[in-house]
Amino acid sequence: MKIGVFDSGYGGLTILKDIRKRLPQYDYLYLGDNARNPYGSRSFEIVYEFTLQAVKALFQRECHLVILACNTASAKALRSIQQNNLPSLGPTKRVLGVIRPTVEVLPDFTHSKHVGLLATPGTVKSNSYSLELQKLAPEVKITEHACPMWVPIVENNEIESPGADYFVKKEIDNLMNKDPDIDTVVLGCTHYPLLENKIRKYLPETVKILCQGPVVADSLADYLQRHPEIESKLSKGSSIKYLTTEHTEKFDSLASLFLGKAISSHTISIPD
Ligand code: DGL
Repeated sequence: MKIGVFDSGYGGLTILKDIRKRLPQYDYLYLGDNARNPYGSRSFEIVYEFTLQAVKALFQRECHLVILACNTASAKALRSIQQNNLPSLGPTKRVLGVIRPTVEVLPDFTHSKHVGLLATPGTVKSNSYSLELQKLAPEVKITEHACPMWVPIVENNEIESPGADYFVKKEIDNLMNKDPDIDTVVLGCTHYPLLENKIRKYLPETVKILCQGPVVADSLADYLQRHPEIESKLSKGSSIKYLTTEHTEKFDSLASLFLGKAISSHTISIPD
């Protein structure tokens, strides 16, 4: 059994990188639905349908533990899949997301109890972070802010352009104007760690940045420790295979930007 890591496209590679750094012993299968991304501006129904198809594709390929390394999919599809589909797809199969682990550590980061969330319009609209925070740490106030231009900036490799500076500064200023007491900002989208230097440049120095990769990796390590019945079934060959719904040349060239090294992927169609 392998660990499946799913994202709408390339962004989940930032999460995969940290998971593999923390848990290098396991075998992984990464799936990017690049032919149909971005998910960030799509409706609830479509994100649910696409994510479910991807989860089924990973289940069919021996990944009975799947991480939705995509905030939009975690926000709009995780709960529905867990409640509506997992019981019939197999009671021993598991799907985990990135929002709950992030929210769980937030109270440790913030002193002012005012945090900011930068994410896609879909994640912000879903209110998932606020709802999760209300359950786990109601004393923390979260201000959510959508950054619709940031994913296209990263996907078009415009990270170092003056346009990137303009849009990063604009959204940071908007967020901090909404709540000047924010002392922690969550990068609630898989692409945003690639903009971290610019985000740091425009945020007040005292504001901390919370990147999800290490948090999700720690949470998965903890989950596997608490679930030896799952951990014992995972194969440990330290391998990684990349699947994409797009042409491999396109995936491979941009994936290298996210991973910092060359990779070679395979194309699949979903649903199969
Ligand atoms: N992976 C998505 C997320 O974390 C960003 C890309 C997209 O919109 O599909 O929200």
